[in-house]
Amino acid sequence: MKPTLTTASGIHVVDNQNSLSAGPRGPLLLQDFHLIEKLQHFNRERIPERVVHAKGSGAYGTFTVTHDISRYTKAKLFNQIGKQTEMFVRFSTVGGERGSADTERDPRGFAMKFYTEEGNWDLVGNNTPMFFIKDPIKFPDFVHTQKRDPQTNLKSPNMMFDFWSKAPESLHQVTMLFSDRGTPDGYRHMDGFGSHTYSLINADGERVFVKWHLRTQQGIKNLSAADAARLAGTDPDYAQRDLFTAIANKEFPRWEVRIQVATEQQLQEWEARTGWNPYDLTKIWPHSDFPLIPVGIMELNRNPANYHAEVEQAAFSPANLVPGMGYSPDKMLQGRLFGYHDAQLYRVGTNHQHLPVNAPRCPFHNQQRDGSMAIHNGGAEVNYEAVTAQGSNPSGFGHGDKGWALSGVAGRYDSRGTEDDYTQAGNLFRLLPAQEKQNLFDNLAGPLSQVSEEILQRQLTHFDQADPAYGQGVRAAIEKRRTSKA
Ligand code: HEM
Repeated sequence: MKPTLTTASGIHVVDNQNSLSAGPRGPLLLQDFHLIEKLQHFNRERIPERVVHAKGSGAYGTFTVTHDISRYTKAKLFNQIGKQTEMFVRFSTVGGERGSADTERDPRGFAMKFYTEEGNWDLVGNNTPMFFIKDPIKFPDFVHTQKRDPQTNLKSPNMMFDFWSKAPESLHQVTMLFSDRGTPDGYRHMDGFGSHTYSLINADGERVFVKWHLRTQQGIKNLSAADAARLAGTDPDYAQRDLFTAIANKEFPRWEVRIQVATEQQLQEWEARTGWNPYDLTKIWPHSDFPLIPVGIMELNRNPANYHAEVEQAAFSPANLVPGMGYSPDKMLQGRLFGYHDAQLYRVGTNHQHLPVNAPRCPFHNQQRDGSMAIHNGGAEVNYEAVTAQGSNPSGFGHGDKGWALSGVAGRYDSRGTEDDYTQAGNLFRLLPAQEKQNLFDNLAGPLSQVSEEILQRQLTHFDQADPAYGQGVRAAIEKRRTSKA
């Protein structure tokens, strides 16, 4: 039997199709509260879209430990082979609005929430192991160039390459973005990366630094630039459809979770040898220097029942680490530790952590109270730091782990001209097979044919410095476009 239609307050609705009117032609009566409530709620249906990563798809899943990493971390989710932890994952594109096409050339967001017994661990990564910038102060400027021109309201290759050509540290990820990996075939066929350097802390309080990797078990599959463009018109929700349908058909996508591990001393030695700052997000740690260590399997196996409640209102923050994990001196990570919770206070609301998709699955107690939509408001518990408060451990740096030594003079340090932003970009370029190199040249030639001569020349010098063949290839592809149009 169908349930009875009610107002939000649970009162039976008498008639949901005919407004209460004075006579058959109206006007309508103010006392038709159901009509008024229906229109009022409709007017408030949207929340602000995410300032970046607005278009996305989510699913629940399970993380299963396959290998013992307890020598590196005391985090309880890893303390037994076979142990399972419930998860929620949201994939996304970055620059487009909520209604934009899934197949745009763009990095893909890869945000994971692990509902552990010690609180929620959020690993908010991308499908790329590196990022465009290394200082968070540049992030709003960078994102503005990926969004719309303030006057024309159009996307602007000129703005994008104006920024990139003045930020040579971006070349490594620009190379990846314009390679075939810039247009993955849905979300199931791409790898994920925590990207930043994080740390792990074991039961003895010893810290190692780590990078997180997720390798797709479905195999890497990318769309050609032509197919991506076609699908943007014919099936703009391609990746959402692909993920939802696969899970509905019980073809559960899986990723192998792996880590690269290094002690602080190993990183110092590596830096001395390579000249690369190990905490610089525009760099990777080569697998040959820091091999991948298997940890577990992530499987996505349940579609959300309601997109808005569970996917749109989901809130991830890189600040959410559980005991046995820590941050690193990566400046970008430091910026992000502030950015996400702040964005969610505005986008979802003061008590966004109370929503079912965001709430921890373990007991939680704090002295935060009230605010709009307070669901878990502490009941009758005291709302101040009381002598009876359990679990405070002010003796350690974080969760009882040792503090780290800092050095240097507080100041603003410009890395430009002092750090090598080209070798790793060149290495990535040299790794690509011939056809993929050609695709990279062609993919770059499209937008670069639309930028000013000054910006073009500045950007070409970066390709040249990464590898002369890179610059040559892009020049030839631009020339080919120009002559074919003439
Ligand atoms: C979303 C800021 C760099 C991955 C967001 C949001 C903000 C933000 C404000 C929207 C959050 C929300 O409304 O819920 C920043 C800042 C960065 C930065 C300030 C640099 C300083 C990065 C990097 C990565 C990343 C390096 C990946 C390694 C993501 C993902 C989302 C996101 C995956 C979407 C999360 C979701 O699905 O809800 N970012 N971001 N961001 N960011 Fe970043």
